[in-house]
Amino acid sequence: MNDMSEWEIKRLLREKNLYNLYYEVIYKNSTESTNDDAKKSDNKNNLLVVAERQTAGRGRYGRSFHSESDKGIYFTIKINKINNSGDVNFIPLIAAAAVSQAVCLICGIDLIIKWPNDLLCKKGGGYGKVCGILTESNASYVIAGIGLNVNNDITDFPDALKKTASSLKIISGKTYSRAEIICEITDNFTRLLRVSREQLLGEYKKRLALDTDISFEQDGAIYKGRAAGITENGNLIAVLENGEKTVIQSGEIEFI
Ligand code: BTN
Repeated sequence: MNDMSEWEIKRLLREKNLYNLYYEVIYKNSTESTNDDAKKSDNKNNLLVVAERQTAGRGRYGRSFHSESDKGIYFTIKINKINNSGDVNFIPLIAAAAVSQAVCLICGIDLIIKWPNDLLCKKGGGYGKVCGILTESNASYVIAGIGLNVNNDITDFPDALKKTASSLKIISGKTYSRAEIICEITDNFTRLLRVSREQLLGEYKKRLALDTDISFEQDGAIYKGRAAGITENGNLIAVLENGEKTVIQSGEIEFI
């Protein structure tokens, strides 16, 4: 199945609204990291960097992101800040909402958002990770790097990930056009850059895992509690075991 090519991505992008933003497209068969390519590019317009595989895909907190297979989506959206105002703090939420909406529309699959921007599905008694997002910024750009497992079989993942990873194909048994998903994500992302903060938070919360038991680290201590909501700044509100409320501004949570 030839479900992705530079030509197909450009063709599908032309059919999208994209809210008057123009994107250049860089398409690579193999690269170290699409985020690094986007950062290095001296593009004048906004940019999409898409790769069939990455040899040094990066995750949050210096982790690596497995991206050897040409069955996943590894791409980076780069927005030049000069022309496109928007609060950088909300880019992780915009990206998570954009991916979850695209996957719901094209695949009919409701992924769960683990704050701030992991996308999971139910797997056995726990959860499988389907998508990870790495956002980065400087004074002139913001980038959102998206790694989404699409047509991967479980045998495509290394042993260390077989228990914790999943893909859209593993969930539904079907294969999907990666080009179509990339263009739908880009269209959603562009729209969500433009909407009010209230609307963004409303759309993000539709798939955010709340009322879920979590653990997290703050100032070197591990806490347990329940994810209870998000603040108007997109931070997570947790209710601790002793009933106290706390706000998590950065870092990661675990489902327990
Ligand atoms: C995470 O789960 O910690 C975030 C993973 C982000 C992976 C994507 S794949 C495309 C882009 N290029 C990278 O090197 N990383 C991001």
